[in-house]
Amino acid sequence: MLLEECPGEGADYTGRPGGAPHPATSLYTVGAIVYGRGEVSSTLVDSMDEGEAVTSGTAWAAAVAMLIAAPLLLAMDEDLSGDREEMVRTQIEARGVRDPRVLSAMGAVPRHHFVPEPVRDRAYQDRALPIGHGQTISQPYVVAVMTEAVEPSPGDRVLEIGTGSGYQAAVLSRLVAEVHSIEIIPELADAARQVLGELGYENVSVVTGDGYLGLPDLAPFDGIVVTAAPEKVPPPLLDQLAVGGRLVIPVGTAFQELRVLERTEAGIESRTLFPVRFVPFTRGPDDPSE
Ligand SMILES: C[S@@+](CC[C@H](N)C(=O)[O-])C[C@H]1O[C@@H](n2cnc3c(N)ncnc32)[C@H](O)[C@@H]1O
Repeated sequence: MLLEECPGEGADYTGRPGGAPHPATSLYTVGAIVYGRGEVSSTLVDSMDEGEAVTSGTAWAAAVAMLIAAPLLLAMDEDLSGDREEMVRTQIEARGVRDPRVLSAMGAVPRHHFVPEPVRDRAYQDRALPIGHGQTISQPYVVAVMTEAVEPSPGDRVLEIGTGSGYQAAVLSRLVAEVHSIEIIPELADAARQVLGELGYENVSVVTGDGYLGLPDLAPFDGIVVTAAPEKVPPPLLDQLAVGGRLVIPVGTAFQELRVLERTEAGIESRTLFPVRFVPFTRGPDDPSE
């Protein structure tokens, strides 16, 4: 039994380590969830897109479009806050995530802005979703667990490897001082940079490149979150962990487990949380094995 992280329809929460069913499993039959308000929101997004596409070129038309679009966007977010609250309560809190700051951040970040339009009405469902280029936005529960495991404090500086949609970075940004995130696929990095900017997450920087080497110039980091699975923990990332800092990382290939490695004065302490399935950690041109 594992927590699925991968693309596709089967990417739902399926169980707990050791085969023991999770207490919350029975609460969820994803296919049975009715997302009426989400459907309304999709309609709003479509209308706004049409509004922005008006090509009359007159200033008054643009102003009217803005006046209409802004309240609609606000209304959409207000409307979906109920879906977020339910997501936090039934998918995350019920499964044992307790840190009130993490729960609050998960309840605040508008996940629907980080997923592509065709799957937007599933944004608050208990699953990973495709974001293009064969990649995924992680399941909300997995994002919450990884965020809690890094034990974020307000003054912290955190490194993320695998920006993807930018959602995990947005959640972290509400809990720490600085988030530096590296994404290897340029198109995803650009899109994440744009949405994070539009939503006002100013303490997040997105770097395009291979995250294997981390960001040595900005090290050490109080926390490092890796959202793609390497075969082994990359040594440069461990080296960039401050004393007292934690690296949260899925490790493995066919079989993967989520690990937390903490740097103490005495060395590295490691523990395993549960089996997971993440997209693979890929390497760029700097990969010496290529
Ligand atoms: C599960 S997705 C990311 C989910 C993301 N954190 C989010 O909130 O949407 C994993 C991401 O890691 C990226 N990735 C894989 N290997 C990488 C590497 N060596 N360096 C940087 N990013 C990498 C993938 O391109 C993909 O976007």
